[in-house]
Amino acid sequence: MNRPAFEGLKLNTPAHVQHHRLVNWVAEIAALTEARDVYWCDGSKEEYDRLCDQLVAAGTMKKLNPELRPNSFLALSDPTDVARVEDRTFICSAQREDAGPTNNWMAPAEMRTLLQTGDQALFRGAMRGRTMYVVPFSMGPLGSHISHIGVELTDSPYVAISMRTMTRMGRGALDVLGADGDFVPCVHTVGAPLQAGQKDVPWPCNATKYIVHYPETREIWSYGSGYGGNALLGKKCFALRIASNMGRQAAAVDGTGWLAEHMLILGVTSPAGKKYHVAAAFPSACGKTNFSMLVPPAGYAGWKVTTIGDDIAWIKPGTDGKLYAINPEAGYFGVAPGTNDLTNPNCMASLKRDAIFTNVALTDDGDVWWEGMTDTLPAHLIDWQGKDWTPAIAKETGAKAAHPNARFTVAATANPVLDAEWDNPAGVPIDAFIFGGRRSTTVPLVTEARTWAEGVYMAATMGSETTAAMAGGNGAVRRDPFAMLPFIGYNMADYFQHWLNLGEQLAKKTTAVPRIYCVNWFRKGADGKFVWPGYGENMRVLEWLVGRLEGTAGGADNVFGFSPRYEDLRWDGLAFSRTQYDSVIGIDKAAWQQELALHSDLFKMLEQRLPAALPATQKQIAERLGA
Ligand code: OXD
Ligand code: MN
Repeated sequence: MNRPAFEGLKLNTPAHVQHHRLVNWVAEIAALTEARDVYWCDGSKEEYDRLCDQLVAAGTMKKLNPELRPNSFLALSDPTDVARVEDRTFICSAQREDAGPTNNWMAPAEMRTLLQTGDQALFRGAMRGRTMYVVPFSMGPLGSHISHIGVELTDSPYVAISMRTMTRMGRGALDVLGADGDFVPCVHTVGAPLQAGQKDVPWPCNATKYIVHYPETREIWSYGSGYGGNALLGKKCFALRIASNMGRQAAAVDGTGWLAEHMLILGVTSPAGKKYHVAAAFPSACGKTNFSMLVPPAGYAGWKVTTIGDDIAWIKPGTDGKLYAINPEAGYFGVAPGTNDLTNPNCMASLKRDAIFTNVALTDDGDVWWEGMTDTLPAHLIDWQGKDWTPAIAKETGAKAAHPNARFTVAATANPVLDAEWDNPAGVPIDAFIFGGRRSTTVPLVTEARTWAEGVYMAATMGSETTAAMAGGNGAVRRDPFAMLPFIGYNMADYFQHWLNLGEQLAKKTTAVPRIYCVNWFRKGADGKFVWPGYGENMRVLEWLVGRLEGTAGGADNVFGFSPRYEDLRWDGLAFSRTQYDSVIGIDKAAWQQELALHSDLFKMLEQRLPAALPATQKQIAERLGA
């Protein structure tokens, strides 16, 4: 085949690549960015090891003590590049209304001038002096009818190795692509070209950042950041923002479409051996990884929770009308601080080896540490900014050893409770959806929606206190519908309608439409402490949910759903009084009146396309509240 090159740059295209469109696109981006050379990733272990060695030599990563943490690394980012940058994230649909009021928007032509075509376009020459890695990947099991292929071109070897852990990356994805398969093109640069002879810095990035999505042409362009969801473009950019568009557009073809959601997927098996699958949406850094790896507490012998996914779910109706979900990812990029042998022992076990840690602290014996890992503080550490850290310094200055959004990157296969079906191309059938925000007040521990529309209402109006996963997150409550506020790739009101439509379509085909639940693990008492113990104790809520699915668990109506009474949950092994329970399940009328006013603010913002079912549901809740 004709193998294009520009000004003598060899594309190094492997012989097995026969996909003309792909090769032409690689040539075009290499020319635009003036990459020094091009390397096609094969996804092998040998390649991973070689790139890790290269990153160690460059000072981007440090090899951890192999006796304590075999084959594991610590990366410290630039202090200005530590989280997703929501204010720099754009949905560039042709029409502004299609991006909707919750997304940043710029006209595609204007954005293309800025990034690609203008004389001063940011991607012009952006990879000068750097290798451009061609990273082919599958989101979802190779060859699954729910999966899709992407190819990321990046000048960051840290991104290339992270993509090997987080996706099915390399030769297998190219084989699925064949000579003419469709792929989502993802272009990423750290935006730090090197002049001849210029020494690189350990974590190149640029103060200017753009995370850009073109939904109509299904393209992703990311400039200036090497961190997490800004740079590993399979994750938030593809698997949520572009895929949510793909799922909705598919409805015009097959009548239902599909869902791309910010959800963990877990299996829960009862002592009777019955297994259910639950998909649960929580905002970033609200415990999705912990919930997906939950260890049932004492008194729950015979119950088992297994992980299919910890962050993202792609969910499609099957021919039987049931919803089937896959985890499009192949690894976990989780928040380290707060993770320990009590909060998430399975996660700690996953991290014993073969992991990359970013922005945690380094111990004197070459291992990692983060706030909350152990009760006893280490006497001395090197903190995430490379500075000395001691408990005394922390006390005096408040310095954190690890950045609050410090992360681990590890393969799903390291998880001791990985579900046997996690890689099943057919997916797993979903029995229930859970939506949960981080709310110190107002929202009860658990509520079951009485109808699909009521469930959509609960999810749509969800609020949550912001966390360090977003740059600038400061604990203020913001509406985070479906935990998708930073991730929806189109108009939020259209997304609500898509959910409502899907529910209607499912009900025509099956009586097994998943039930919808709203939870809140985070209510605080007058002392400012969490009342509900959370973590493994969330099993009690999960057991109640299973009881509801089996028709055995009771409860009582509240103003917006159906919740367990004290006697409807099992308390074996946990001292939790009726008074404590009342404080996490109760509905405070005044607080709910205020809450409904906040729902109205959201509806006002989305009014142009808001489905009528939502204000209608709100009216019913207001009436019940007033009664
Ligand atoms: C994540 C996030 O990284 O939601 O998963 O921020
Ligand atoms: Mn997430």
